[in-house]
Amino acid sequence: MAFPPSFIDELIARNPIEDVVGQYVNLKRSGANMFGLCPFHGEKTASFSVAPDKGIYYCFGCHKGGGAVNFMMEVEGLSYPDAVRALAKRAGMQVPEDEQYQSRYRQQERLWALMKEAARFFHQKLYEPCGAQGLAYAQKRGLSKGILTHFGVGYAPDSWNSLVDAMRKKGYTDQELQDADLVGQKNGRIYDRFRNRLMFPIIDVRGNVIGFGGRVLDDSKPKYLNTSETLIFNKRKNLFGLNYAKKSKLGYIILVEGNLDVITLHQYGFDCAVASLGTSLTEEHAVLLSRYTEQVVLTYDSDEAGQKAAQRAIPMLEKVGLQVKVLQMRDAKDPDEFLHKFGADKFKLLLEDSSNRVEYQLRAIAGKYNLKIDDERIRFIQEAAELISTLGSAVQREIYGHRVADAGKISFEAMNTEIGRAYKRRLAREKKRQEKIDLAPAKARQPEGRSIRYDNLKSAMAEEGVITLAMKDPSLLDLAGDLTGEKFSVPLLGKVYDQMRFRHRQGLEVSLAVLTELTAEEMSHITGICQKQSGAVNEKAFRDCLATLRGVTQAKNISSDDDLLAFRNKLKESKGTRQ
Ligand code: CTP
Ligand code: MN
Repeated sequence: MAFPPSFIDELIARNPIEDVVGQYVNLKRSGANMFGLCPFHGEKTASFSVAPDKGIYYCFGCHKGGGAVNFMMEVEGLSYPDAVRALAKRAGMQVPEDEQYQSRYRQQERLWALMKEAARFFHQKLYEPCGAQGLAYAQKRGLSKGILTHFGVGYAPDSWNSLVDAMRKKGYTDQELQDADLVGQKNGRIYDRFRNRLMFPIIDVRGNVIGFGGRVLDDSKPKYLNTSETLIFNKRKNLFGLNYAKKSKLGYIILVEGNLDVITLHQYGFDCAVASLGTSLTEEHAVLLSRYTEQVVLTYDSDEAGQKAAQRAIPMLEKVGLQVKVLQMRDAKDPDEFLHKFGADKFKLLLEDSSNRVEYQLRAIAGKYNLKIDDERIRFIQEAAELISTLGSAVQREIYGHRVADAGKISFEAMNTEIGRAYKRRLAREKKRQEKIDLAPAKARQPEGRSIRYDNLKSAMAEEGVITLAMKDPSLLDLAGDLTGEKFSVPLLGKVYDQMRFRHRQGLEVSLAVLTELTAEEMSHITGICQKQSGAVNEKAFRDCLATLRGVTQAKNISSDDDLLAFRNKLKESKGTRQ
């Protein structure tokens, strides 16, 4: 649905981009802009920027960008109208809309409320006569009354309709119960999906109950029944226990495999434990973790499957800039068993003993070679040097360099030379890659996204110029006369131009943040080109772009690289000095 442009203007004004983004990203000011770690892709150095004056964000790494509405769409997976609603709610604004319209956001709010009621229901049952078996099982697993309350652990009665009846009484529809994945359906009738199970509510970082994991009370299979994907639940994007772990004062997060490991760890004072809901760790999980901590202690089960999962998780966590340590469990298969057997103090010792990923990986490399054989010793040293050369800190390089030199029985100087060589080799590889990009100007000017193509590069450059310059100074649009977006060779740029022109004529704000009807990719593209435009704005540059645009519309034949380069140089000159 379309919102009135003046409403959107107020919405943008009352939701400063740095505040909206600041809810999700830790931003640091640097000059006029602010920088932080991109919430959309994993990274170690901040390439995600926010320009408060322009009301936009842009990531130089993954090239996503846009205004506050786009940010909400992207970060919360909302549709355009629902992102507008979320921002309106944030700013305490009334949304002008048709009451009949059942928005996705409202549907989500209903489901959150339903899941909370269901969690309350299950938790109550744990202490009723029908829940005796559930409570007995929880006690058998060593869970204290306090921790059962803290995690809202519950019991799903051994019945086909107790939850259904209770939720219907509360006014929830059968459709809503199905949407929440709380029920099954047969012959047109719905029935309780979770029966005779210990219920672990899954709570997101905002405190909403979004799903359940239900464990059987014995050894029958399947051990767990989990909420499958719903409008509010996606296991790839959530971690069990993160709602508490994110507030932990311990300064790191312990990543384990099982729900019971998480709960037991919290019970023993390690309030920073999380688990990945029965899936292997995803990139989204890693990015999520990096929002709340800098260090992760991998504490996977000691069996082969657990160790394999750890090897897989290390690079994923490292990629998003997390420091990774690996805790090696001894004399127990998992933290739950360990804690009950040996207690919290012994677990603390394991934590202190846990090695960082460099040590863990060096050990893995050493394990591949027989250091008594010269040939293999050399390969060990080379491979270790390669690993050490990737370390950012000189202190780390020296410490591990010494260690490998000792293990490989060579001098530290020789080791250092080897590390230096590995470093240079990597730099050279990088440089070659960059050169390849630089040598292909026409190709490099093509948009990142696959669905936006520039067929006529010269015209497209001029169109970009018209938009970026007018974005900085909308009064330039007066110079464009009757030019409309139809004349543009790139439909997207034409569409944006038309919106700008329309708003300018109506006396409304012209900015990136108020553009509508663009896909995330399109918005990112537009933000990207405006971000690159750093020259001083002047009329001459704008007129040149207009002339080119009109020129090429007449003679649609120029798109070779030579022409393009000449044109770009001209554009640069006319824009004056670049900062
Ligand atoms: N899991 C699952 N479905 C299964 C088995 C496991 O979804 N059939 C998920 C659960 O989220 C579980 C996690 O994988 O918490 C780890 O499995 P496991 O270690 O077997 O479960 P625990 O919760 O640790 O339970 P227990 O200690 O009783 O074995
Ligand atoms: Mn377990």
